[in-house]
Amino acid sequence: MADRIFSGIRPSGKLHLGNYLGAIKNWIELQNSPDTERAIFAVVDYHGITTPFDPETYRQQTLDTVLDFLAIGIDPKKSLLIRQSHIPEHTELAWIFNTITPVSWLERLPTYKEKLEESGKKYNHVGLLDYPVLMAADILIYKSNLVPIGDDQKAHIDITNEIAKKFNHMFGETFEPVKAYKAEGERIKSLQDSAKKMSKSGDEGIALIDFPDVIREKIKKAVTDSGHEVIFDPDKKPAISNLITIYHLLIKEVQPREPKEVEPLKFGIREIEKKYSGKTYIEFKNDLAEIIVNFLKPFQEKRKELEQDMTYVEDVLTESEEKAKLIASSTLTEIKQKMGL
Ligand code: AMP
Ligand code: TRP
Repeated sequence: MADRIFSGIRPSGKLHLGNYLGAIKNWIELQNSPDTERAIFAVVDYHGITTPFDPETYRQQTLDTVLDFLAIGIDPKKSLLIRQSHIPEHTELAWIFNTITPVSWLERLPTYKEKLEESGKKYNHVGLLDYPVLMAADILIYKSNLVPIGDDQKAHIDITNEIAKKFNHMFGETFEPVKAYKAEGERIKSLQDSAKKMSKSGDEGIALIDFPDVIREKIKKAVTDSGHEVIFDPDKKPAISNLITIYHLLIKEVQPREPKEVEPLKFGIREIEKKYSGKTYIEFKNDLAEIIVNFLKPFQEKRKELEQDMTYVEDVLTESEEKAKLIASSTLTEIKQKMGL
């Protein structure tokens, strides 16, 4: 019982398979681990407003993301589920960290450069640059030491550790090192362009709430590589390798639920190649679509049930946020004392 887990996701749209395989799958694993002392999962709505958002629907989007967390298996008896903007200690600590973080650390981050480019340099505001400092505050306000995230967030964990080290050095030992907990599916690629990661937009990704027919259509339209063999080779066959990765990671989860529908084989990458040797991309894709549909079925049913009970969702948040606030305010008091504030 030693690990203190924290992770977050922006409420900027529908959660997709990349979010699940790169992050949330591990949230569930860690909340259930005997080594976990506490687990806190946040909808980071202050991070979400660094890129365009709609104030009319934003509150609902945040609640929808919490619904997704609950439906996929985050258990409020084991984990705390919070909205970042409801615990002001995050932003207070971010301000303190702002005063010890060199601008140059932030300017060289690829995530910052990418977001800036994406917007055609339109969103060149302080919040976009400062994004990782708030993320460091999210993690360190709870003295977390293990953060389950996808590959694209790794550089932010490095900055978190740099900030923690500098704070310890200036004001006395306060924070322990933080480790990224990375998933097998840490970088699921877009279904349309395997040079890009799966994202929320269009046919690039599969949303957890996509209807079965939409999923079948998106997998059918997913790009494949030249040739016709189902072989795992991320360099030469990046598109089909990405689909094999999704197959490999999801079939493990579908098998115990639907034993009759799936052959009782072990589905390592090599077993998948063997099963489809001599078969076409189309056969492989048809099976993959059904695996995804089966995997998402219980999630979608649970989500529909929960949608009818938004008071329960609100209660989970209020209760979690009260508990989280106690931890956050105790860390902030300690920090303010050390700094003479
Ligand atoms: P975001 O949707 O950008 O807020 O990301 C939430 C979490 O999902 C982070 O831990 C990301 O690293 C992870 N994530 C997002 N997209 C992917 C992807 N395509 N593959 C793996 N992990 C991802
Ligand atoms: N930056 C993360 C993302 O874009 C979201 C995030 C914010 C986060 N604060 C965090 C993730 C703290 C882990 C821990 O996906």
